Amino acid sequence: MILRPNPDVVRVYRRLLAYVAPYWYVIVPAVAAIVIYAGISLTVPLFLRDIIDQLVQDELNRGSPFRLPVLIAVVFALRGAMDFLTVYGLTWVGRSAIRDLREELFDSYLRLPVKYHDRSSTGALISKLTFNTEQVAEAVSNAVAVVVRDSLLVFGMLGMMIYFNLRLTLLIAVVGPVIALLVGVMSRAFRRHSARIQESMGDVTRQTEQTLRGNRIVKIFAGETQEQAQFVRINAKNFRLHLRVAAVRAFGDSLIQYIVALGVAVIVFFVFSGWLSIELTAATFMGYIGALAMLLAPLKRLVNINVALQRGIAAADSLFEVLDEPGEPDRGDTPLARAQGNVEYRGVGFGYDELKGSVLDDIGFEAPSGSTIAVVGRSGSGKSTLVGLLPRFYDVDSGGILLDGTDIREYRLADLRRQISFVSQDVVLFDDSIAGNIAYGALRECSRADIERAAEAAHVTEFAAELPDGLDARVGERGVLLSGGQRQRVAIARALLKDAPVLILDEATSALDTESERRVQDALKRLMQGRTTLVIAHRLSTVEDADRIIVMKDGRIVEQGTHRELIGHSGWYSMLHGMQFVD
Ligand SMILES: Nc1ncnc2c1ncn2[C@@H]1O[C@H](COP(=O)(O)OP(=O)(O)OP(=O)(O)O)[C@@H](O)[C@H]1O
Ligand SMILES: [Mg+2]
Repeated sequence: MILRPNPDVVRVYRRLLAYVAPYWYVIVPAVAAIVIYAGISLTVPLFLRDIIDQLVQDELNRGSPFRLPVLIAVVFALRGAMDFLTVYGLTWVGRSAIRDLREELFDSYLRLPVKYHDRSSTGALISKLTFNTEQVAEAVSNAVAVVVRDSLLVFGMLGMMIYFNLRLTLLIAVVGPVIALLVGVMSRAFRRHSARIQESMGDVTRQTEQTLRGNRIVKIFAGETQEQAQFVRINAKNFRLHLRVAAVRAFGDSLIQYIVALGVAVIVFFVFSGWLSIELTAATFMGYIGALAMLLAPLKRLVNINVALQRGIAAADSLFEVLDEPGEPDRGDTPLARAQGNVEYRGVGFGYDELKGSVLDDIGFEAPSGSTIAVVGRSGSGKSTLVGLLPRFYDVDSGGILLDGTDIREYRLADLRRQISFVSQDVVLFDDSIAGNIAYGALRECSRADIERAAEAAHVTEFAAELPDGLDARVGERGVLLSGGQRQRVAIARALLKDAPVLILDEATSALDTESERRVQDALKRLMQGRTTLVIAHRLSTVEDADRIIVMKDGRIVEQGTHRELIGHSGWYSMLHGMQFVD
């Protein structure tokens, strides 16, 4: 049967209701207002009948000229007030539910593992948060108002018609099932298309975001035509999908109106022909037609709201899917205030996904507290992967990583991450002031003096002093207003301020001029002091100064030792050393 509700839809709707239910104290009065509103609307055909009734009387019997007009004025003032209460109340409920849902979704984005973010497009995730939630909001507020009010109106008007003339109403009631069938078929089409429209909005956002982010590359490599062509394709698909929904909607609309018009034709026929001996006074007939006419608008709205409803259900479904994704595994319960910083990798194996096979194999080394371990190796040999396992961006597949002799999975995740500072190859800055970027996140509470000290040590003060706002100067989105070396120094200041016992450093490969290079180096040296440091090294000086060097090849450690030991071996290290550093 077409009309049987899809269990999935029921499940999504139930879950959506859970977001609305806490606001019952607004829903109840709003729905009461709807009922009053609908009740008042039901009096319209009665008014019509009474007016005609009085008009056909001769003047003497018409009664007071004030009664009906005053009644109309009062009744409709009340109806207006009820309408306001409904619309405002239900919008309030819908927006509240959406605010909650959005917060929950944003929260999800924060706790989803790196792996999830790796395989989903940022644009699609943004679009879910902005576009899909709006569609749910619409379904919740508009749809509730329309469904409750207009179903009441439809049934009320039907009741009114039965009251005016039962036999006539039964006669045209046969169109009911036809309309219901039609609505059922249309709903399914709406829902299917809505899900695709939402995906297509995700594509629009993704494409836009990528193009904007890469705007410099687009300009230099003349990527405009390519980007434009891709966007045109995506946008055209969006257009087609919308039109398909519009077509179904418009067709359904006209069909339903036509079916009702046929109903009127049937009525007129029976009344005029006198068949089935249906007899009506002129006044009752006006009332009857009035009720029928008034049935049309709510019926049309009911069918149309179906579009919004199905859209909302499809959108909610996609949001719930994200909410149901498991967050980062955080099952450890060992607290850790401040680690000493003894790090050990023991037979670590890891792969990003099963199909692509392992990226790290049997990695084992020790980094005693305060030592510096340099990781070197060709591009793609697994260096970034290796250091990324320590803060548990990903979890190892086999073996284990120990911090102070305890497997890192046994610590509480927040405690573990508090022990680790991180300066990445591509520095990440937020659209905030320099000071705000240094004292980011958990460092928010640091005193101004501490921030200034970190800025001084990382040679940030030098360039900040030349900016009009000093440390309060804004860095722009992703730090674009600063130079590469300046961004690095801000990141180093941030890591300094965190003062964690373990430091992960992905040295920048880009060469700075000697002067900036010296400053960055100097800042880094200070940062590494007294910390266990895992550094992916590109600079000769870093490598030479390290307590231990790990040489990676194809996800394995092929050699390890001090610079002196390794250079004597004439193995991989001396070869790499020759290739990378000699000049
Ligand atoms: N997020 C990821 N998802 C899937 N595979 C990845 C991911 N990151 C890296 N890889 C793969 O893992 C391998 C090791 O990458 P990794 O980034 O660790 O290399 P690397 O030694 O740091 O290289 P480079 O010196 O160029 O930075 C590569 O083959 C890469 O394709
Ligand atoms: Mg790397």
